Amino acid sequence: MNDSINEAELSLIAALRDAQPGFVSGEELADKLGVSRVSIKSRIDRLKEAGFEIDAVRRQGYTLVGEPEALHPLLLELELRALGTDIHWILLEECASTNDEAMRTLTDGARSPLVVISRKQSAGRGRLGRRWHSDDGGNLMLSFGVRPGKPPAFMQRFTVWVGLRLAAKLSAYSGVKVKAKWPNDLLIEGRKLAGILTEARLDSDRMRELILGLGLNINSAVDTWPVEVRSIATSLSHASGRRFSMSAATALVLNELVNAFDDYQNDNIDAEMQQLWDELSAINNQSVTISTYEGAVTGEVVGIDSTSALQLRLPTGEIKTYAAGDVSLSGNYQA
Ligand code: BTN
Repeated sequence: MNDSINEAELSLIAALRDAQPGFVSGEELADKLGVSRVSIKSRIDRLKEAGFEIDAVRRQGYTLVGEPEALHPLLLELELRALGTDIHWILLEECASTNDEAMRTLTDGARSPLVVISRKQSAGRGRLGRRWHSDDGGNLMLSFGVRPGKPPAFMQRFTVWVGLRLAAKLSAYSGVKVKAKWPNDLLIEGRKLAGILTEARLDSDRMRELILGLGLNINSAVDTWPVEVRSIATSLSHASGRRFSMSAATALVLNELVNAFDDYQNDNIDAEMQQLWDELSAINNQSVTISTYEGAVTGEVVGIDSTSALQLRLPTGEIKTYAAGDVSLSGNYQA
């Protein structure tokens, strides 16, 4: 749901899609939308300017030949409605950080769940003070904001849960195996596909607003990235050899975020979390080094506990649990 969506334009695209690969006459469209044929023509012209390929043939009408690959608000709304996803979304051309925008909008009283998407960020940030930048239109940058009301100890669990759910969803969508690297990365064959940055406003006993920021390389122009980035990062299209509709991919991600949050709120995630971890964790049973504020420790990943803290078997045989940290793989790594 988005307040600036024009329902007539939405019906126009829906009618053109329904008729595909055939035609729909200007008269039929005018009837359907309750406007004049001249108005249909000017609306069609506007859609063409926005990247829709629409052919007009005398005595047959209009046919939709192609849709813009870039994120388009009307297509996003259509895809969300088709999936039955109830979310309040905002699409910005540019902002400093979607995490800040989502936090501000939610603390101002907006309905939860909410998502802020931006085509560009001037101060996008990652974990540990790193920067996140990719403004080529193929990178999905969004922040999902909710009011969980759960204890702060469950914040990390949401990040890990969403990472695993998205890994499963994106694997099925793209046909390429996507894995989740605790606590916040998605990888394809060891290269970074996406990063998650979760931030919250906390009371002593509960999370007020929780913002999950996601940067996901969908159609990103990997070939234009500096060599040092190319060797550690990838995109869905680079790995699969396919291009994706940014609107459809965004709707898929939003649908999964909403569903994952519902399950999380209903305390309905333990069994699936374990199953997804076994299937899609990039680091399970691997030798890793975790860097925390106490220093770096190397051990073998045993699993995660009920708060999604990482359990490592140290060389001494002792099992130690880490609530937070930056993990790198040591030894022979098979993603
Ligand atoms: C990481 O890998 O360290 C996390 C990267 C998170 C980047 C996203 S892009 C959208 C949202 N807004 C931000 O400022 N950061 C997150």
